[in-house]
Amino acid sequence: MAVEIERTKGNYAHAGNLKARVSLYDYRTPRIDPVDIAAELAPADARFVLDVGCGYGRYLKRLRTDHPGATVVGIDAAPGMLAEVEPPIMVADAQSIPYPDDSVDTVLAMHMLYHVPDIAKAVAEFRRVLKPGGTLLVSTNTDDDMAEPYAHWARAIRSVLGPDVFFPGDEVAKSDSANATSYLEAEFASVERFEERGLVSVPEPGPLMNYLASIKSYVDCDGAAFERILAVAAAELEAHFAVHDRFEFEKALVFYRCR
Ligand SMILES: C[S@@+](CC[C@H](N)C(=O)[O-])C[C@H]1O[C@@H](n2cnc3c(N)ncnc32)[C@H](O)[C@@H]1O
Repeated sequence: MAVEIERTKGNYAHAGNLKARVSLYDYRTPRIDPVDIAAELAPADARFVLDVGCGYGRYLKRLRTDHPGATVVGIDAAPGMLAEVEPPIMVADAQSIPYPDDSVDTVLAMHMLYHVPDIAKAVAEFRRVLKPGGTLLVSTNTDDDMAEPYAHWARAIRSVLGPDVFFPGDEVAKSDSANATSYLEAEFASVERFEERGLVSVPEPGPLMNYLASIKSYVDCDGAAFERILAVAAAELEAHFAVHDRFEFEKALVFYRCR
């Protein structure tokens, strides 16, 4: 468990790693922004909103713009992620949210539950702080999300470190579309599911290499071994782009609205 927490802390010491991953989706068609989906699903009349695991604040910014009368607090366990986020913000853990029972209209937990050591505890915290009738919005990836790039990165990592090494994709699998519902249904009577799929068509190796570099903290090796992993991945992409114009894969997200 301690190892998992260190991997996550290392990755979110600053916003750069997450921004590198998110920028891969610039190559997506249709160009649907998950922030638009969350903005549509969020209740319009909420007055007090917590964005838990808010990262660099892309959802929170949109909610503050759409609902200027509402207070939207950004919460994250990693202080470095909050560096660019306008207050109100707070460094706190989803497993122990420093707000009273029945005090919040809407909680957002976007692409963050799979990082939490005790997912059931975090979801129980969301239920505890929400007012009766309040809404929890959760997003995660589907269990078949990004199959081709994950396979490519896994080949590079395992060719250097062996077949049994922890693969970063396994982190998300702790709360992807295959198992998120069971955590949510344990606390919420109504769990609605919204799935969104799009093609990501990448014209050059750079964005895929940047993504791999961004998950270094999740790969259990020293810097020299990670350089070898990058070299294996770069060679494979070079071979791919020698015969294909693009590297293509499906990006598949799922949103849950829980009441
Ligand atoms: C994949 S990022 C998502 C950020 C943002 N929600 C978004 O979608 O752009 C996950 C975020 O969750 C935060 N996080 C991880 N574990 C957490 C915990 N136990 N409590 C609060 N935040 C946590 C990380 O620091 C990181 O900023």
